[in-house]
Amino acid sequence: MIIIIIIIIYLKCFQHVFIICAKPENNQHFVLHFLDGVLTLDKAGCNSVCSSCNNELQEIVTRKWCMCTPHALRCQNGGTCHNAGATYRCQCQPSFTGYDCGIDIDECQFNPCQQGASCNNTFGDYNCHCPSRYTGKDCTLDKCRMAKADVVFLVDSSLSQGPDRFKTQLDFIGEFVKSVYVGSDYVQIGLITFSFVAKVEFELTRYSRQSDLLDALQNIKYNAGSTNTAAALKMAREDVLSKSRASVRKLAILLTDGMSSNKLDTIYQSALLRNSDVTIVGIGIGSEILHEELLKITANPNNVFTVSTFDGLYSILSNIRLLSCDVCSEKTTDLLYLLDTSGRHSLSQFHGAIEALQSITSFIGMGISKVKVSLVTYASEPKRIFDFRTYTSENEIHHKIQVLDRDSKSVANLTRALWYVSQNVFTTSSGARNDSRHVIVLLTNGKDIDADAMKHVNRLKGSGKSIVTIAYGKDIARETLLNVASEPYMFFNLGEELFTDGAVLSTMKTLFEFNTCSL
Ligand SMILES: *[C@@H]1O[C@H](CO)[C@@H](O)[C@H](O)[C@H]1NC(C)=O
Ligand SMILES: *[C@@H]1O[C@H](CO)[C@@H](O)[C@H](O)[C@H]1NC(C)=O
Ligand SMILES: *[C@@H]1O[C@H](CO)[C@@H](O)[C@H](O)[C@H]1NC(C)=O
Repeated sequence: MIIIIIIIIYLKCFQHVFIICAKPENNQHFVLHFLDGVLTLDKAGCNSVCSSCNNELQEIVTRKWCMCTPHALRCQNGGTCHNAGATYRCQCQPSFTGYDCGIDIDECQFNPCQQGASCNNTFGDYNCHCPSRYTGKDCTLDKCRMAKADVVFLVDSSLSQGPDRFKTQLDFIGEFVKSVYVGSDYVQIGLITFSFVAKVEFELTRYSRQSDLLDALQNIKYNAGSTNTAAALKMAREDVLSKSRASVRKLAILLTDGMSSNKLDTIYQSALLRNSDVTIVGIGIGSEILHEELLKITANPNNVFTVSTFDGLYSILSNIRLLSCDVCSEKTTDLLYLLDTSGRHSLSQFHGAIEALQSITSFIGMGISKVKVSLVTYASEPKRIFDFRTYTSENEIHHKIQVLDRDSKSVANLTRALWYVSQNVFTTSSGARNDSRHVIVLLTNGKDIDADAMKHVNRLKGSGKSIVTIAYGKDIARETLLNVASEPYMFFNLGEELFTDGAVLSTMKTLFEFNTCSL
């Protein structure tokens, strides 16, 4: 098929009109024959090659049909030019706008810098000045979470577990996954389940994205049977950690609620695993006797955690999280106890809460310049018992807490209490320090936390306060209190855990300590 195209070219000020024939040479090019030259144009008309024609002609022709012709350099700052009939359109690089992409966009107006970092717009870019703990373009990388490690979880799916508890273990691993950076430069995670036999669910390099790992956890099947811990330990060494990266920390985290079926073999396999440079962490749920076996498996009492219930699992997280920071230590803490003294708690429950506060006060080791404590109680009205300036010794605080009373006829209003806290507590005049961590320890059953109260909670969190929740009383709103806590491991269920539980205490200690990365 031959297409003849008649093209009329108006030259300079209509001095001359040429009628020429253009005929497609092949599919790619048109060849235009002028009186004084031959011009080859590609289909879009953009790359013209003139043979024996004068420059003036070429320029006029290409300008007419090819607005994007290179000599014009229409789009600035790396923008891409598209012909659009008699005109052109620029597709700009992300940092530029305007018809010719000549206008720099001020990215700072979109608040790209996280962690309260200041933003500096530059031509074609922007910089964030990150606080020392954070790094990355937008300060989204927490240096304290940039540890490198290869971690394999060994998850008991034996008969004693049951599908619900099995799921709780996987949720716990999910929280661990969320607390580290996943990937070949950071933490790689593998998973083995075991009952009668062991099975590799996924290897270390299988998932390089957090979201994929979390999805994979959802799909692991419960498989009842005996407790073949030895097989799992063997598999961790031979099939998973054998492929771990050179010179990174290797960790096997064993989660179980039962004694192993073959004790001798378990001890033997754990020794082999430890000898291949792997640290074993044992997490036991429920049984006292289990503790003994975990001590043998890990060969290090610091790596054994036992909790009486699954709620206690989260409290272990901060202890096994892989922190690699050297910048976020040494921060003082201003600690507010916010205690529900309303009538909905029985006297004995109330005494339990008092004891909890006494325990916390004891172990935070009031080198008081490091931790300062204030106490606000609330029923229908909030009441400040003492502020951060009042007491400088543990004993004084113990004494003051000891004589607290319930307001047994009164109904709790947390919304009002939180409003009071946001206005009056973490202020300079109350002795709070603006370079301290500000932590609220809320003790309640959570039943009065409605949408209004939640707004205050989120506002407090948004302004940098960390919230630890301690559930006390009966009829506990567990999910709500878990939500109110800044992190899942900052929720404690007093009803079940009590503060005699070593893991709970040590978690609290790491939360409030002077040298910490937790908050
Ligand atoms: C913003 O960045 C530019 C270019 O990097 C730099 O010259 C300038 O000093 C920075 N301004 C501030 C306030 O940091
Ligand atoms: C709780 O306090 C808030 C704020 O002062 C108030 O609006 C609300 O009505 C109170 N709720 C109850 C049940 O008294
Ligand atoms: C804390 O606040 C005081 C008084 O408002 C101020 O002088 C001081 O610079 C602040 N310190 C920090 C670290 O922000």
